Amino acid sequence: AHINIVLDDARSFLSEQPEKLQKRVNEVHEMIHNKTGKGSDFLGWLDLPENYPKDEFERVLKSADKIRNDSDVLVVIGIGGSYLGSKAGLEFLNEPFKQKKLEVVFAGHQMSGSYLNHLVSYLKDKKFSINVISKSGTTTEPAVAFRVLKKLLEEQVGLVEARKRIYATTDKARGALYSLSKEEGYEMFIIPDDIGGRYSVLTPVGLLPLAADGIDVKEMLKGAHDAQLRFSNPKLEENEAYLYAATRYLLYKKGYKIEMLVGYEPNLLYVNEWWKQLFGESEGKENKGLFVASAGFSTDLHSLGQYIQEGERHLFETVIKVENTTLDTIIPSVKNDLDQLNYLAGKTLSYVNSQALKGTMMAHKDGLVPNMLLSIPSFDSYTFGYLVYFFEKACAMSAYLIEVNPFNQPGVEAYKKNMFALLGKKGYEHVLK
Ligand code: PA5
Repeated sequence: AHINIVLDDARSFLSEQPEKLQKRVNEVHEMIHNKTGKGSDFLGWLDLPENYPKDEFERVLKSADKIRNDSDVLVVIGIGGSYLGSKAGLEFLNEPFKQKKLEVVFAGHQMSGSYLNHLVSYLKDKKFSINVISKSGTTTEPAVAFRVLKKLLEEQVGLVEARKRIYATTDKARGALYSLSKEEGYEMFIIPDDIGGRYSVLTPVGLLPLAADGIDVKEMLKGAHDAQLRFSNPKLEENEAYLYAATRYLLYKKGYKIEMLVGYEPNLLYVNEWWKQLFGESEGKENKGLFVASAGFSTDLHSLGQYIQEGERHLFETVIKVENTTLDTIIPSVKNDLDQLNYLAGKTLSYVNSQALKGTMMAHKDGLVPNMLLSIPSFDSYTFGYLVYFFEKACAMSAYLIEVNPFNQPGVEAYKKNMFALLGKKGYEHVLK
């Protein structure tokens, strides 16, 4: 298995073991694969790695090359599922502090005027391209950012050249972004009808920004494809995604209402954010679902660690361990040992980090926090694709186990209605009356 799952520190908290759920898992598996469950018209991600449209993939690579050749910066505009996947991939795969020929930055993932103002100043003397991403094509945050940055680009290079530097990723036939892009003649990429935002990393939503950054997206799709094959077998002893889903379901049933995803490498921090969106938006409905939180250790052992060890007992942890990091640091020996670290001299930081992981899992288990351990081999694009598919499949299984539709998000409309009414948008006058 490319992802290894160890449940030793979770099993003792359960009265029923996940393997006992095999029958129910088989039923849900059939439901997913026969497309008979709630929201089943959003299962396009299931065999996407296998059936990836070749011509579109080639266009993605071509555009990525063009962006690298004519720009210093790529601004990716999007929010939620139109943002977090590529952000997670970039953070997972990129070396910290490395100066790259093309810088990828984000906009439209919040409404901060100050952020956008700084970005506009930053882009003023730079050659930049824009990839605007929105499935609905009407989401306010990216639409506002796009309006501002499109104007900047047009002023900078003229209307004709700007049109060649804007790439739109959206629906195949609907939405304001679709109409605008058609009108302007932008290069367009499609988000398939049957793939929702948070399941869209392996579509051009994630592929174009990642490919532009120079990431091997072919390997990423290969990883996802291998995961697709492995997780098409429902047997819990061979399907780590389902085993993970079944275990978190049983913990939830036992009263553990919060799951924390924990990593010991900073490259994992945005995988946490992507994962929170995937599970939070998929499961949190009908007054059900685990609350998903995250932490980066050992950093957060110096903050949330206190709560995890001794606070209210309603949480469990899923720990991601990276088996091989490419580079490492050896702790040097010093003569006088004034900092008293010579007992670690000659050891690598990875070794110390792995002992921190072990010690923490032991301590948290003693503190009555169940722990699951997921091991991944390394930070490479194959593993990223595999991990994405692992969590996507686990999430579908998980949401169906608590009998909610994994693929809708009715709750995100509530704030929008009020905001639109407060902003005076036409059609929302009645909301605040
Ligand atoms: O998962 C989802 O569907 C959402 O988080 C969307 O991705 C997010 O709201 C952005 O939507 P859109 O791509 O339509 O702008």
